[in-house]
Amino acid sequence: MKNIKDYKNLNQKIVLLRLDLNVPLKDGIITDETRINKIIPVINFLIKNKSKILIISHVGRPKGEIDKILSLKPICENLEKKIKQKIKLIYDDIFKLKKEDLFKTSDYQIVSLENIRFHIEEEKNDTSFAKHLASLADLYVNDAFSCSHRAHTSVSKITEFLPSFAGLQLETEINALKKVTTEIKKPITCIIGGSKISTKIGIIKNLIPKFDNIIIVGGMANNIISYKGNLIGKSIKEENCEIIIKQIFETSKNYSCSITFPEDVLVGKSMNDKSQVKELDEIKDDDLILDIGPKTIKKIKNIIENSETVLWNGPAGYFENPNFANGSYEIAKAIIKKNKDKSIYSVVGGGDTIALINQIKAIKDFNFVSTAGGAFLEYLEGKDLPGIKALSYHV
Ligand code: 3PG
Repeated sequence: MKNIKDYKNLNQKIVLLRLDLNVPLKDGIITDETRINKIIPVINFLIKNKSKILIISHVGRPKGEIDKILSLKPICENLEKKIKQKIKLIYDDIFKLKKEDLFKTSDYQIVSLENIRFHIEEEKNDTSFAKHLASLADLYVNDAFSCSHRAHTSVSKITEFLPSFAGLQLETEINALKKVTTEIKKPITCIIGGSKISTKIGIIKNLIPKFDNIIIVGGMANNIISYKGNLIGKSIKEENCEIIIKQIFETSKNYSCSITFPEDVLVGKSMNDKSQVKELDEIKDDDLILDIGPKTIKKIKNIIENSETVLWNGPAGYFENPNFANGSYEIAKAIIKKNKDKSIYSVVGGGDTIALINQIKAIKDFNFVSTAGGAFLEYLEGKDLPGIKALSYHV
C-alpha cells in the first residue's frame, strides 16, 4: 500500500478523498466529533501541498434515497470551523458534474459531494458509477479505515480507475491493530456490543479461536437471550440467527474460549423510560432490553480483572439515555482502573463506543482508540478488507 504522504507532486492535483464522516447525529447536531478530528491531518496535509480536495463520505444507511437528516451539511460546517477553510457542499445532480467545473473559481480548495449513499449505486460496487466518480479527480485517497470492510463503489471499485493511496489515519489505524494482533498478551478478552447486529454476529464464530473470553452485550445479546428460550419483548433482534448462535456455542467448546452473555438486564417500556432490573425469565412482551443488569456487570468486571488484553467494540446498552448507560460505564471504569495500574492493554473501537468514552472524558485512558467498529472486528477476524485489498492491488 502506498501512502499519499510519499506522493511527490500534489500541487493542483484533484484528490478524491474518501472519508468516513459517519458521526453520531441527534436532531442534526453532531454528538461526537472524533471521526472528524481524526481526519484533520490528511486535510491539512493536502491543503499544505496545494491539492484540490473532493471529499466523499457516507452518513447512516439511507439505502439510495435522499434523506435530509443524513445530509453532510452539519458535518461540513463543523469541519470548516476546524480547518478554517470554506467547503463547498454540492447538491447538484452528481451525474452532471464535470471535473473542469468543480474548482472553476478559486473560492474553494475543498469541495464535498453530498452523502454518497443517497445513490443506490454506491453499495453495489458499481463499475460505471466508479468510472464517473474517478472522472472527477486525478488521484484517490482512502482515509476511511472504518468503512474499508464495505465493498462499495467509493471504497473499492473506484481504485480500478485512479492511482490510489492510503491516507494518514488509515495507515495509523492499521499499524496499531497490527501491533495489537501480533504482540498480544493473554488472557485476551473481546467485548462486543452495539446495535449493528447483522454486521457483527457472523464475525463472532471466527473470533473464538483467537480469544480466551468473548463477552456479548448490546443488541446482539438479545438474540442469544431469545435463543436460550427467554422472552425479549420489543427489543431489537436480527431474524434467522439461530444457526449462527448454535455454531458460536459449539465452536467455543472446541477452543478454550468462554462466551459470556447477560444473566440479567435493565428494561424500559420505551427508549426514554426509567430502568428496571429484571431476571431473564421476568421479561415481558412489552419490555425493551436496554442495558445489562448488576449480576452481569459483576461477572464482566471479574473477567476484565483477570485479562491482560481487552478489545472493546460496541456499548452494552442504550447509553444515550443515562438510565441505560450504567453497564457501559462500569465496563469502561473496570478497564480504566486496570489501565492506570498498567496491568492491561486496552483497545476500543467504533463510533458509538468512542462517543460513550468521550462522554466520560476517558479517551486517554485506553491504549488505542480506533474509529472503526465493523472494520475493526473484521480485521481481527483476519479477513482481507475490500477497501484495503483494493489499495494494495490498484496502486
Ligand atoms: C461505521 O460506522 O462502522 C462505518 O461508517 C460503516 O457504516 P455501515 O455499517 O453503515 O456500513
